[in-house]
Amino acid sequence: MKHFINVILLVLALTALLLFLTDPPAWMPLAASAEAGPVDWLFGLHMDVIIFLYVLVNGVLLYAVVAFRRKPGDTGDGAYFHSNTRLEILWTVLPLAVVLYFSYLGLGVLRQTTAAAADELEVIVTARQWSWSFEYPDYGIAAGELNLPAGRKAHLVLRAEDVIHSFWVPEFRLKQDTVPGQEKYLRITPTEVGAYKVRCAELCGTGHAAMLAPVNVLPPAEFDIWVQKRLGTYVEPEGGAGEGPGEEDIVALGQQLAQANGCIACHSLDGSKLVGPSWKGVFGRTEALEDGSSITADEAYLRTAIIDPGSQIVAGFANLMPANYGDTLLPSEIDAIIAYLKTLE
Ligand code: CUA
Repeated sequence: MKHFINVILLVLALTALLLFLTDPPAWMPLAASAEAGPVDWLFGLHMDVIIFLYVLVNGVLLYAVVAFRRKPGDTGDGAYFHSNTRLEILWTVLPLAVVLYFSYLGLGVLRQTTAAAADELEVIVTARQWSWSFEYPDYGIAAGELNLPAGRKAHLVLRAEDVIHSFWVPEFRLKQDTVPGQEKYLRITPTEVGAYKVRCAELCGTGHAAMLAPVNVLPPAEFDIWVQKRLGTYVEPEGGAGEGPGEEDIVALGQQLAQANGCIACHSLDGSKLVGPSWKGVFGRTEALEDGSSITADEAYLRTAIIDPGSQIVAGFANLMPANYGDTLLPSEIDAIIAYLKTLE
């Protein structure tokens, strides 16, 4: 009886200590969506139960090692016992009940995080080796970054063009594989204005680690301005215009766009050969093409290579570049990327 009480006290004390140390969990990123609430709640509950079970197993083990160690001069065997039916039933039924209860809670969270809303913003998300693109059918626009208005539920329709990828923004807590030939869905209600990143969470080839795209949660008014800018209907407010962007700004924008649109996953900046030709010294370079002809990489060629990449393939490379940059990049953005390419010597 003495040992029982000791073990119970030890387990309770260690459990309380670990629960105290892990609450709130310091390893989680910012929770930036409404769906993060129920997900974190369920995760926390799992964590608490796991901590208790861990302490139960290891606490009893630790106690037994210390309390029942062999005494000097004791050479006898331990007491023999066969089984304990009551204990076995208990340790089968109790965990079963806990697991069933957690499935019930999990179903509740699933229902909460997949529930539709009336004013959802539909975004078609396309994943491919190795970039993301985003279409907004309600507005007729597309982009290489995912911009969402805060407080409005987004209904993401996820597609894959080649292999399985996985849409994951850790701050939103939800993750969904994209599967070729199927449409998958995710509902996210961003709550925290800020800049995040979607990363691919399924190993999908050499560019997997670089398969990132910016995710911006904007105040609704700013989101509307962004939509108007992409539509080309935005009018600068009186007096707020100022002069246009300088050459340096344009190069910086081009560099940013090259990162955001996944270009860097396939085009190296240091001359090494990746899936696509290196960008080092690309401007003005003479390229041998697949059909035996050759071409000088001038502005016109670079523009064609971005908008219609399959038309003039450089010898030694496959036709792998996404063909939709003409849709997801504005003409001014393509200009900026070309301005950036000119600076890469
Ligand atoms: Cu796409 Cu990993």
